[in-house]
Amino acid sequence: MIIANWKMNGSKELIEVWLNFVSKNIKIIDGKDCIFCPPSCYIDFSKHLIEKTNQSIRLGSQELDSLLSKPLTGGITAEMLVEVGCSFVIIGHSEQRIHLNESNELLSNKLVSAIDNNLTPIYCVGETAKQKKSNQTKEVLLEQLDVIQSQIIDKCIIAYEPVWAIGTGESAEISYIEEVHSFIKEEFKNTTDFSKEISVVYGGSVNLENYKETYNSSQVDGLLIGGASLNHSTFTKIYNMS
Ligand code: 13P
Repeated sequence: MIIANWKMNGSKELIEVWLNFVSKNIKIIDGKDCIFCPPSCYIDFSKHLIEKTNQSIRLGSQELDSLLSKPLTGGITAEMLVEVGCSFVIIGHSEQRIHLNESNELLSNKLVSAIDNNLTPIYCVGETAKQKKSNQTKEVLLEQLDVIQSQIIDKCIIAYEPVWAIGTGESAEISYIEEVHSFIKEEFKNTTDFSKEISVVYGGSVNLENYKETYNSSQVDGLLIGGASLNHSTFTKIYNMS
């Protein structure tokens, strides 16, 4: 799967241009989802544009509020996201963990709420540069992965996004990505009776130079792309050529 996370970027005009180009030029194949995650206020707009194309571009949300604090001004529920056409939701992105101070309890609730409403969570984990330097990567990942309740693991996609690689132009080395992805996959194999291997996608400064090597690895099940996904031709190339 190839996922475009637009973060806090875009406008109706940019989305229309992007979706027109992508839908005309992308060659979507079975088993390789093309997932577009615009800002929440443009999801419905995007859905209507996608419906006009023959392409099965799927929609994901960057935001979901759990039922931890209800009522919640500004909140968006999983039911609402499904109604406006989402099939996926990004949960636990490091930018939200850091800037919105998201707790493990909150993230756990979000995951359950997504699954209960047939939304597939793309659950993000990753260590900071400081944690990597002090050899804490695995410990940090285990703590973040612990949030996923065992009965929903098979319905989640894990996105490994080292914080130090996000938006820095410094993607992780393939050997490092493989080591971490295999650690995550093994961890799930050891702690659950879930027989199918969990999908682990990589994100962090994916671009035209590095996507191929990353995507081609047997340990990598997809790419979660931020900055480079904003460019319609870059995103389409990455999808078609990976
Ligand atoms: P960049 O591709 O801009 O580094 O962002 C990665 C990311 O955070 C995707 O969720």
